[in-house]
Amino acid sequence: MTHPLEELRSSALREISEASDEQTLETVRVRYLGRSGSISAWADRMKSLSKEERPIAGKLLNETRNAVASAIQQSSDRLRATKEASELANIDISLPGTAVELGSLHPLTQMLDRGIGIFRRMGFALAEGPDVETEWHCFDALNTAPDHPARNEQDTFYLPDGRVLRTHTSTVQIRTMESTPPPIRVIAPGAAYRRDEVDATHAAQFHQIEGLYVDEDVSVADLKGTLEFFLRELFGSDSQVRFRPHYFPFTEPSFEIDVKSKALKGGEKWLEVCGCGMVHPAVFEKVNEARKDDAYDPEKWSGFAFGLGMDRLAMILFGVPDLRLFAGNDLRFLRQFA
Ligand code: DAH
Repeated sequence: MTHPLEELRSSALREISEASDEQTLETVRVRYLGRSGSISAWADRMKSLSKEERPIAGKLLNETRNAVASAIQQSSDRLRATKEASELANIDISLPGTAVELGSLHPLTQMLDRGIGIFRRMGFALAEGPDVETEWHCFDALNTAPDHPARNEQDTFYLPDGRVLRTHTSTVQIRTMESTPPPIRVIAPGAAYRRDEVDATHAAQFHQIEGLYVDEDVSVADLKGTLEFFLRELFGSDSQVRFRPHYFPFTEPSFEIDVKSKALKGGEKWLEVCGCGMVHPAVFEKVNEARKDDAYDPEKWSGFAFGLGMDRLAMILFGVPDLRLFAGNDLRFLRQFA
């Protein structure tokens, strides 16, 4: 005579093999193995069996439970594989994929990258410094007198702790010389901040590429050669470049550079693009004080420095009439540079 547990096992295995989807299979599982399923009920019944019956039934119960559990697992794996295969078979691989929208670099980033690329070819390394600066790095070390108008609260953003948003990237000249002895050949691209009245050509935040070259016997000829090369690379070899004497506290002599080029909207006008000059000996002295050495001996070393207004360059190179467009985040504008 077959034991009722053996009958239970046969009926469970049959139902499992007949279950054609996962939901039916789950119903079968609950019916046999669930907390109040028939196999579990047998476990409860064990206690009430006689001593002779108990080991036989216990062994059968274990075998039944294992056989049913593993049949369910196998069946479930098979059903899932079949379902997946049929889903994959329904995919039309000839359909076009989901389009990915590609972004592009902001025109000012493109402009900076172009400028950086030219200076790198001339052997300039990249340097950087913080946008929030000490007054000392922004003004004092750059030989700017305590009563200089640029330090005015109307022109400079002061933080409550006395630091400033740097008004130019020339601060990086000082930071570089503080940390590195000469010779130096670096550029420092980055943002600068002024409390200008915002209009088509002025913004509270703008971008510069600062440059510093310190070595023995550096002369104005090196300065001219470097910046003329840069501007001709940028605006075309037929552009004209002129140096006008100017004043900056941190350079002597100082110049402003104008460019005239057919490539530029604005036609035959001279456009001012850069401030520059030979590093003032007083700047070297300030750096030596901070370094507590004589690494930048003005008798031994000389250098040139420059600051290029990159927003300005981008405007004239791309023919953008209003600086505010760069920060307006209008995709119709930005897409033209993609
Ligand atoms: N820092 C100046 C400005 O923001 C530009 C400049 C002029 C930078 C002369 C220099 C320099 O390094 O030598 O207007």
